[in-house]
Amino acid sequence: MNTNKKIMVTAALPYANGPIHIGHLAGCYLPSDIYVRYMRMRGRDVKFVCGSDEHGVPITIKAKKEGITPQEVVDRYHAMMSDAFEEFGISFDHYSRTSSDQHHKNAKEFFMNLFEKGALEAKETQQYFDPEAGQFLADRYITGTCPKCSYDEAYGDQCEKCGTSLSPTELITPKSALSGAKPELRSTTNWFLPLDKLSDDLRTFLKTRENWKPNVIGQCMSWLNAGDGLQPRAMTRDLNWGVPVPIEGAEGKVMYVWFDAPIGYISATQELLPNDWEKYWKGDDAEIVHFIGKDNIVFHCIIFPAMLQEHGDYALPKQVPANEFLNLEGRKLSTSKNWAVWLHEYLQDFPGQKDVLRYVLTATMPETKDNDFTWADFQQRNNSELVAGFGNFVNRVMVLTHKYYDGVVQEPGTLTDEDREVLLNMAQYGRRIAKNLEDFKFREAISEAMSIARLGNKYLQEQEPWKVYKQDPVRAGTVLYVATQITAVLSIVFEPFLPGTAAKLRSMLAMDTLPEWKAIKNETIIDAGIKLGKAELLFAKIEDSQVEAQRTKLEATLVQKEEEMEENSHAAQKKDISFDQFMEMDLRVGTILEAERLPKADRLLKFLVDTGLDKRTIVSGIAEHFTPEEMVGKEVTVLMNLPPRKIRGVESQGMLLIAEDADGKLSLMSPKSGTPSGSVIR
Ligand code: 2FM
Ligand code: ZN
Repeated sequence: MNTNKKIMVTAALPYANGPIHIGHLAGCYLPSDIYVRYMRMRGRDVKFVCGSDEHGVPITIKAKKEGITPQEVVDRYHAMMSDAFEEFGISFDHYSRTSSDQHHKNAKEFFMNLFEKGALEAKETQQYFDPEAGQFLADRYITGTCPKCSYDEAYGDQCEKCGTSLSPTELITPKSALSGAKPELRSTTNWFLPLDKLSDDLRTFLKTRENWKPNVIGQCMSWLNAGDGLQPRAMTRDLNWGVPVPIEGAEGKVMYVWFDAPIGYISATQELLPNDWEKYWKGDDAEIVHFIGKDNIVFHCIIFPAMLQEHGDYALPKQVPANEFLNLEGRKLSTSKNWAVWLHEYLQDFPGQKDVLRYVLTATMPETKDNDFTWADFQQRNNSELVAGFGNFVNRVMVLTHKYYDGVVQEPGTLTDEDREVLLNMAQYGRRIAKNLEDFKFREAISEAMSIARLGNKYLQEQEPWKVYKQDPVRAGTVLYVATQITAVLSIVFEPFLPGTAAKLRSMLAMDTLPEWKAIKNETIIDAGIKLGKAELLFAKIEDSQVEAQRTKLEATLVQKEEEMEENSHAAQKKDISFDQFMEMDLRVGTILEAERLPKADRLLKFLVDTGLDKRTIVSGIAEHFTPEEMVGKEVTVLMNLPPRKIRGVESQGMLLIAEDADGKLSLMSPKSGTPSGSVIR
């Protein structure tokens, strides 16, 4: 390991158009923080920067929706995000924002550098224009149907469903996100980065990267090897929110947000180290590591490196350890759909328990494939792994040492083979955890760290100091001495993952400073004769009512969404679907066998329905319109092949079709009486 290296760690600049949620954390902020904390403990020269991404269409759309200025939007979310990151223990050396003067100056210099070299090509193209709003529609100002997957809410720059990067003219039935109007094409001049001409250099860059994750390199290669290869990409936009383009003839235009945002990493470093920033960005010693989510891969592995190569003064990224996506209770996390666990709300709902979320998100981090966060898993991991495992071990060591020896770590007697083996194991765990962290395998690393606590519990269970003490207090003292060394190792290896817990452990172990990582190898970390601090509980049980409250919050989001859809459903005929899509629906006649109200849910009825194929449970939000009694025996239309969904803890396995008139009056879609259950409807 060359320790002269300057490690520059960046975490993707979050858009300042909404709060931080668990998907952001698991995607890049937690892994980057763990990595940086570890590197600091290794004594490496590392700097960690981030900041709010305050430009781009997501911001202006939010402002329009709320009837406030874009500046008000970014001020609000910048403050909110930086507070939440700090409270959550994300240890940035500097958290900046792209509206800062330094950033505007730096981004303009960068642009001018490329422009003066002739690295940007001016081109007149046809762009969508909203005649009602009187402006061009870049990126997310335009929505339509994805040409790849038919998702009908794809954006002009990307389909969030299938991840394909798009240009607005590829969208089928494009629509202005500003007015809903059908856009028209108008000519305009923009400045393009000719990625097509830079493909060979990019290929060389990618080929010379070492140990990149397969998901990252795979995505880059599919860009490079796509049918018509890389295409020139516009680096300017006809918008009025962003960094103004500093060249003649570009008045009223701003930089593409993905041009200025990554330059924001450099600007943040300049603000942090006005005199020394270049060491971290230029020359052979600069090792740049970008932590991002998978939707940002093309920007960090192709477009930004192309910009850096064209500029020429900068080092190219050494690693881009992108994660896949985290889902929430089986659905894609979404800021606009409010399907999220928001960090600021978590911190309020679970005070003093930030490390629990850090633990669960790290243990389930979507490193190689998408993963699901569920509240059941959160509770289970806390209660059985943190409370009953880790916390219980530490508590036994502390309480027994206080009970038998007034809190003083005893001089060990002769060490047995078991004692020696356990102590030897510590160094091996330390090496394995370090290797995993250096390879960006955070799940594996935290799992190894937890094994130390499990080993500690096993050791205590086998040595039973609480029994041995009466006959042999020296032996019991030796066991607790060994167990104290294990506790000290826990306080070191968990510092990157659970810094609050590690700090608590250090205070219990009377360690006044954070030791270096290599202290794990020491035979003794806590000397005999040291008096331990007060025993504190590291973790608290999470009750059913707490996770139930979280699920109810999520359910409210779904109900609200359904109500909005119901409200909108009378407005206009929906868009066409194909005959095949219609035929995919499995609609059948069913008969209601049983009906009851769901406790504590005013709107919900639970049915047992004979569908001809089976008897299944269906939950329906119609309790305000029908009584359970009147429903029993009714023939109904059942949509059979809807994915099962948990509603108030009950799995609903289909949907009853209901007609609703414009006044909101409901009637059941019942077939002619006597139609047998199971009859197919088409
Ligand atoms: O996807 C996003 O949230 C972007 N705001 C990330 C920007 S990363 C960087 F380039 F600044
Ligand atoms: Zn798509």
